[in-house]
Amino acid sequence: MSEIQIGGFRRLKGRIPVQGSKNGVLPMMAASILSDETTVITNVPAIQDVFCMMGILKFMGCGCTLRGGELTICPAELARTDLPETFVRQMRSSIVLLGAVLAREGRASTAYPGGCSIGKRPIDFHLQALRALGAEIREDGCFIRARAEHLAGAEIHFPYPSVGATENALLAAVLAEGETVICGAAREPEIEELCAFLNGMGADVRGGGTEMITVFGRKRLRGCRFRVSGDRIVAGTYLMAAMAGRGEVLLEGVKPGHLKEVIRVLKQAGAGFSLGEDAVAVRMEGPLLPVSVQTGPYPEFPTDLQSPLMGLLCCADGCSRIRETVFEGRYETAEEFKKLGARIQVREGEAVVCGRPSLSGGRVRARDLRGGAALVVAGLAAAGKTEIYDCFHIERGYEDICRDLRLAGADIRWRRQEAKEKER
Ligand code: UD1
Repeated sequence: MSEIQIGGFRRLKGRIPVQGSKNGVLPMMAASILSDETTVITNVPAIQDVFCMMGILKFMGCGCTLRGGELTICPAELARTDLPETFVRQMRSSIVLLGAVLAREGRASTAYPGGCSIGKRPIDFHLQALRALGAEIREDGCFIRARAEHLAGAEIHFPYPSVGATENALLAAVLAEGETVICGAAREPEIEELCAFLNGMGADVRGGGTEMITVFGRKRLRGCRFRVSGDRIVAGTYLMAAMAGRGEVLLEGVKPGHLKEVIRVLKQAGAGFSLGEDAVAVRMEGPLLPVSVQTGPYPEFPTDLQSPLMGLLCCADGCSRIRETVFEGRYETAEEFKKLGARIQVREGEAVVCGRPSLSGGRVRARDLRGGAALVVAGLAAAGKTEIYDCFHIERGYEDICRDLRLAGADIRWRRQEAKEKER
């Protein structure tokens, strides 16, 4: 229902606090139901995906409140073991609840999860992991029903380091009897943090952040208090926005170590960085240079920043090459950049972006969460006014992208549909 309006290029300068991590907090919310005690998570962003996960937890009978970034979850009793279809279809990552509910209640059912339309997103590895732990799973049309009298530790081998499947395996294994070894686990910082969170609940998980994670199952877990890290993808988006605005911006509340590959690529594109313990400063003075990038599982370049990078490179001095290897549908936003005058060709799984000195403004559609944020990056470098519609996608993951970028002097604001209707 909401639109974003960007007035055009302005040199950016300022400090921006980075919100807590979306992909970090969502699996922790699911994990909190593994205990019947209260859990408090802090630095939680007020974003639609968090509200959606809260909606699911409430539907299942948990108390759930978010105030000033502090999320309290009281899972004393679970009234249901079926995940509500309307919420689940909105957000794919709700699938991590399957492992958690199954581990706690011995049964769980869900509709196939939804989420962004960024290519095929199967869940075969998730189901394979739960089956390895002893679950009986029936797929019945659009529904999945899982049952397990008893979950037992096992060796799980992932053919690809899926983030969600690693999370699901972890959430079921912490309450399974005996030892589980997850081989080929995803190494994203969010996985490492989930392992620390689970250990805070009394679990025994070792090797989080490496490709082999060992879990020694426990009979019971307790509640805990945990602060989620800054969002590395939001931070990466703002670094690129700062570069598009040829500016100097300090991001506070994010670990530079989570952004190593992103910073390496952005340095190649001409940016200068200084790194603190919990802060990253970027400065863009010279020309924006073309780069060649391939996305991949962490620690490679994140697929979630592929579109924002493409938005930035539309104005580079030459031709860049981007190869998306994780979600094939993520080139769709290229069509929107073209409406702003970008020169992009997608062929055989690779996008070639030939920069021009400036983009023109225009009216474009946020097709998915990161694609929407990428249009903001492009709009900040455009010569005229840019309007982005269908911004509900952006609100799934960014608390308030306009508020944040205005802190660095950007000419950007929300234009709510209701305000527009009043004008008529
Ligand atoms: C998570 C992130 C998302 C990010 C992605 C990759 C959350 C909430 N979302 O999504 O922002 O873009 O990691 O870093 O944390 N695959 C299968 N079978 C499966 C599972 C995955 O083939 O059972 C494939 C997918 O189609 C995709 C690849 O594995 O090609 C990576 O997917 P995965 O790591 O599972 O991504 P998500 O956990 O969905």
